Amino acid sequence: MGDSGKNADRNSAADDAGPAFRRASFTALGQAASAACAGVSPRFPTPAEICMPSACGDAQADALERAVVERLGHVTDPELGRSVVDLHMITRVEAVRRSAGSGMERPVQAGPDDAVYDVRVDLELTVSGCPLTRHLLDAVTAAAQSCSRPGILVVPQITVSAMSAAKLSGLVAELRASRRRNPFADPDRRTKIFAIASGKGGVGKSSVAANLAAAFAARGLKTAAIDADVYGFSLPGLFGVRSQPTNVGGMLMPVRAWGVDLMSIGMFAGTDRAILWRGPRLQRSLQQFLSDVWWDEPDVLVLDLPPGTGDMAISVAQFLPAAQIVVVTTPQPSASGIAVRAGLMVLQLPGHVAGVVENMSWYEHRGEKLRVFGEGGGRQVADRLTRELGYAVPLLGQIPLETRVRTDGEQGRPTVLAADGSLADTGVARRFDAIAGRLLRLD
Ligand SMILES: Nc1ncnc2c1ncn2[C@@H]1O[C@H](COP(=O)(O)OP(=O)(O)OP(=O)(O)O)[C@@H](O)[C@H]1O
Ligand SMILES: [Mg+2]
Repeated sequence: MGDSGKNADRNSAADDAGPAFRRASFTALGQAASAACAGVSPRFPTPAEICMPSACGDAQADALERAVVERLGHVTDPELGRSVVDLHMITRVEAVRRSAGSGMERPVQAGPDDAVYDVRVDLELTVSGCPLTRHLLDAVTAAAQSCSRPGILVVPQITVSAMSAAKLSGLVAELRASRRRNPFADPDRRTKIFAIASGKGGVGKSSVAANLAAAFAARGLKTAAIDADVYGFSLPGLFGVRSQPTNVGGMLMPVRAWGVDLMSIGMFAGTDRAILWRGPRLQRSLQQFLSDVWWDEPDVLVLDLPPGTGDMAISVAQFLPAAQIVVVTTPQPSASGIAVRAGLMVLQLPGHVAGVVENMSWYEHRGEKLRVFGEGGGRQVADRLTRELGYAVPLLGQIPLETRVRTDGEQGRPTVLAADGSLADTGVARRFDAIAGRLLRLD
């Protein structure tokens, strides 16, 4: 391995340090970006300019370089959701045919007639010691290697360094400029938005929101969740999040937990402090969550709404007109009138009720379903909303009362997930997953 390989190893040694370390690198990115001279954006080379023209007119080398850049266009930075080429992290790709007299050993995997190409790729990370180094290095190496084909063997030589402060500043400026203000208001967006609502408190909205979001993530969907209950936030606790969103040059990075990108006022305030925010700021908070956060383009966005049909619902209708409302209710018929009102807020506001989830439907004791809170509430709400709204509002599913829903939540793990983040092998997990599946099929 040449110098470049050693360099790569040195740079990757600090990774595997976990999310805390990664967040630190983002803080560094933000600081570096704001410290850099504002307004002076360097011109970034185009992908064609990254390729070094072969000095001896080797057309195969030139084609190889273009192929490598094309493959690198599919290597994505997991946090920024863009390719390393788009993020200007690749500064040079150069393929040089190894000649017999170069003094370098012929790789054992090279056949006797194979042309061996050393492909040098210069990778510039946003910050030095970036914890994603190992991941990116492996992905870039694999992308270059994948350009080998019969008769041509590619030997990647990856050099890793860090961007200059001026380049970082330019990159952040470019990212901010390309970011739509509220990506979810775009009619062409692919994100499905589900707002979890209820007429009264304590029926399990947050538990349903957290577990549905986790079920979407376990299905492999890119999932985001916003805790729109700014007075009674609970998502940080339910996902075990203790860290704060990092500020990258003015953009907030959501905190990823259990595969879900999360944003909650609770992350700023400390989880045990209620916040007394007043109406106008309440509305502003949703707007901020939508436009000041780097959401990229999730497949699904779940909102945990506060109880009732108040200001936040109006904000949701205003800023997320495509949101579909999921009404959570408990099974006692007396609760259903209140739940219907939550669903009916869509009568005054644009929005669509996707369906009803009945929570705490029964408690299973020695094989017997005990209807602790009565029965029929979910069906009643679905039927009444169907009548009043004039379209089919289905009962999406029923979730039993189970101690583990609460205890897992208190320990910071949505109960639908096993320790490795896959769907847990439990009845309640399958019920949540079935509801997630029904929501995805609705249109
Ligand atoms: N299916 C369930 N089985 C057992 N406990 C549950 C279930 N659903 C919710 N809980 C528990 O009930 C309590 C209230 O749930 P949760 O906080 O999700 O309700 P909420 O509707 O979001 O409340 P709020 O209106 O205060 O925001 C929590 O302690 C939660 O763990
Ligand atoms: Mg709640």
